[in-house]
Amino acid sequence: MGRILFVFGTRPEAIKLCPLVQRLRAQPEHFQVKVAVTAQHRDMLDQVLEAFRVHPDFDLDLMQPEQTLGALTARILAGMETVLSAARPDLVVVQGDTNTTFAAALGAFYRRVPVAHVEAGLRTGDLGQPFPEEMNRVLTSRIAAFHFAPTRAAEAALLREGVAAETIFVTGNTGIDAVLWVRGALERGELQAPEWPWLDPAKRLVLVTCHRRENFGPGFDRAMRALAALAERPDVQLVYPVHRNPNVLGPAHSRLDGHANIVLLDPLPYVAFVDLMRRSAMIVTDSGGIQEEAPSLGKPVLLLREKTERPEAVAAGTVKLVGTDERQIVAEAARLLDDAAEYARMTRVHNPYGDGTACAQIAQVLAGAALLPR
Ligand code: UD1
Ligand code: UDP
Repeated sequence: MGRILFVFGTRPEAIKLCPLVQRLRAQPEHFQVKVAVTAQHRDMLDQVLEAFRVHPDFDLDLMQPEQTLGALTARILAGMETVLSAARPDLVVVQGDTNTTFAAALGAFYRRVPVAHVEAGLRTGDLGQPFPEEMNRVLTSRIAAFHFAPTRAAEAALLREGVAAETIFVTGNTGIDAVLWVRGALERGELQAPEWPWLDPAKRLVLVTCHRRENFGPGFDRAMRALAALAERPDVQLVYPVHRNPNVLGPAHSRLDGHANIVLLDPLPYVAFVDLMRRSAMIVTDSGGIQEEAPSLGKPVLLLREKTERPEAVAAGTVKLVGTDERQIVAEAARLLDDAAEYARMTRVHNPYGDGTACAQIAQVLAGAALLPR
């Protein structure tokens, strides 16, 4: 029996950890599970908690409008002291690359609590891209005792950094468990997507998201101009649920509001977003998680980044790096929309990031691990 404390704070961490929370909770003979949320995100996190019906045992509620990286990290570290004192876990589980991921891992380290890192080993090799996520990943790997790597390439990156081989487990990404489960439940009618009264069935749906810090400012502006240019085509409809970050929200609306072929939305609940992904012709994004989900749904991605820590789908040809160059984005989008052979090449269903069994594999490893009470 081990006391497991999950700590997460943002939308993507929640999407990728809630299925694991549910999985471990289904094995009470092995695990006593508690959930702490930092609420680095507030509304975008709550949307996911609601979708997976996960009720946190601790909620630090620490999001502030326009929070800075340093102040956010300091609040998480301080909050972790209270949570760890109350929960007294044998293991802390974190996921991914956010400031919650790193600060929760560091907080656990200060209390000598071992850390399991889910989605370990993703690297671009450039601490500036993605920023600050690459550093969060490197530092979390230094702290973690268990490394759940989604792919062999991620495992290789960890080995290159001197992580002990016996502490690395290649499981696939828990985000693929989430997306395949939601897609299946939608298909079986067990989950309902909302009505989309404005969706034009005569047009090809281009789904858009954009929120990376290294794109803020000029890069983001160029990407928005490219979207406006693409939306001049009469055969497409761009649908863009806009991230709540003020560096994104303001510029997205000021560039794209009022355009006939563009629908700007609030961040969508996960089930609704998966429904739009499956209805889309293509996805234009700089998101990490969507890069992983799209190949499993057979959707081509134009990636608004210069570098990616998820090279597998780029190598397979279903995700294309287009950066934030306006002309390149428009040209690559047009190529996909107009060239049937290119479209077919990029629309192959494949699962480079997992087969939907990551949570089961992680549960098996943790159940067998000696999580000795301290
Ligand atoms: C964070 C993560 C990023 C991750 C992204 C997923 C860090 C440094 N960044 O970026 O790695 O890819 O989440 O979406 O950990 N806000 C709201 N409501 C919300 C969420 C955000 O109003 O539900 C606004 C607030 O003004 C907040 C700001 O967005 O201060 C920034 O949030 P923050 O979590 O610091 O950064 P993200 O850009 O969301
Ligand atoms: N997503 C969502 N609603 C939206 C946009 C995205 O539920 O309106 C999901 C998406 O399917 C993916 C995750 O949020 O699972 C990605 O989160 P985000 O892009 O915020 O972060 P990243 O993955 O880039 O860290």
